[in-house]
Amino acid sequence: MSDEELQPTTDMETLVSLCKRRGFVFQSSEIYGGLQGAWDYGPLGVEMVNNIKRAWWRANVQERDDVVGIDAAILMHPMVWKASGHVDTFSDPMVDCRNCKGRFRADELSSDVCPTCGQKGQFTEPRMFNLMLRTFLGPVQDEAATVYLRPETAQGIFVNFENVQTTTRKKLPFGIAQIGKAFRNEITPRNFIFRVREFEAMEIEYFCRPEDSLRLHQEWMEERRRWYARFGLRMDRLRLRAHRQDELSHYSSATSDFEYLFPIGWGELEGVAHRGDFDLTQHAKHSGKALTYFDEERGEHIVPHVIEPALGVGRCMLAFLADSYAEEIDEKGEKRVVLRLHPAIAPIKVAVLPLSRNEKLSPTARDIYARLRKHWMTQYDDAQSIGRRYRRQDEIGTPLCVTVDFQTVEEDQAVTIRE
Ligand code: GAP
Repeated sequence: MSDEELQPTTDMETLVSLCKRRGFVFQSSEIYGGLQGAWDYGPLGVEMVNNIKRAWWRANVQERDDVVGIDAAILMHPMVWKASGHVDTFSDPMVDCRNCKGRFRADELSSDVCPTCGQKGQFTEPRMFNLMLRTFLGPVQDEAATVYLRPETAQGIFVNFENVQTTTRKKLPFGIAQIGKAFRNEITPRNFIFRVREFEAMEIEYFCRPEDSLRLHQEWMEERRRWYARFGLRMDRLRLRAHRQDELSHYSSATSDFEYLFPIGWGELEGVAHRGDFDLTQHAKHSGKALTYFDEERGEHIVPHVIEPALGVGRCMLAFLADSYAEEIDEKGEKRVVLRLHPAIAPIKVAVLPLSRNEKLSPTARDIYARLRKHWMTQYDDAQSIGRRYRRQDEIGTPLCVTVDFQTVEEDQAVTIRE
């Protein structure tokens, strides 16, 4: 089947409603009407987010001997963003509709008709709008006290390149990984957790010799595809798309995006960029510090090139949720929602379900629950019929249900495990 014929597994409305109903994701500040571009992860959401981060860290840091991790501060010296090019070029073109006052990204409009009010020819000329969020450090709120909430975690890695290289004595090629919050004042945050103003990013800056960079760019794309496959993402819904020259970020000489078939259609899930020596060169120039690597083979100092796989945790969670979503009709003709999540990603690993809320069954079931939850995120549920409780666990992707019945307590101490 071609990419164009494939259909998303479900629509966004259905996923948003499941996420709210089951406690995956809530609107930020909902009781005050919400805050655009910000979302809160609920009890199941935070488990899933932590599982995704753990799976990413494990594959990219723990299991490799050429990547180490850091956790840099969100607030950085303002010169970082001047040197990185973000002050001057991290902008999107913005237009306003003179009729309804709606604000849009000019590059996302396909005609001069306003998508909100339908009026033609009412847009202002495009103006460049910088996406960095600013705040002030200290009590005086002036230009000198202005700092930015980082729009990417990558710069915390570049400015620590020398610290990490000298303390770990890693030889090229090696990478530095980081997971952390990033902020972007997106003009049109939308599509649930797909495009938000506050998000978590998982990024690797992989430093290498210039002559190895093209090969390593390819290898990282293959590595990232293997990671998605390992955690169960359907490969026909994942594709790689190379950026056109006019789409490339200011720092990149080549980028390919992994796109996933989200409920809104094909959209960027992860970027794998070739950043060349742009960042280290820029920081060396602005800081006056030589950010080079002594290449013993050549007997000279070189500026490493960088390959950067970067993805948002929320976007990854949306992909896993959409990918695992299925609706089925059960024996009674009732609709049942199933999330077929990989066990490592599923928020709850085991549910303990006594056949009924009965005083003979409860002590044994509660004892099993107490023992299991030392090892796994476990839920205990004895409310309503056993069929309903299975359905509740199916809907949140729980891989194992342990059922305690009368035979368990009266005869064999054996439980039924449903996968
Ligand atoms: N350091 C490179 C970098 O930041 P990017 O393509 O701008 O590159 C990397 O962002 C990834 O971060 C994207 O592929 C996407 O998964 C996620 N991302 C970017 N902007 C986002 C936003 N506004 N909301 C949610 N996720 C976002």
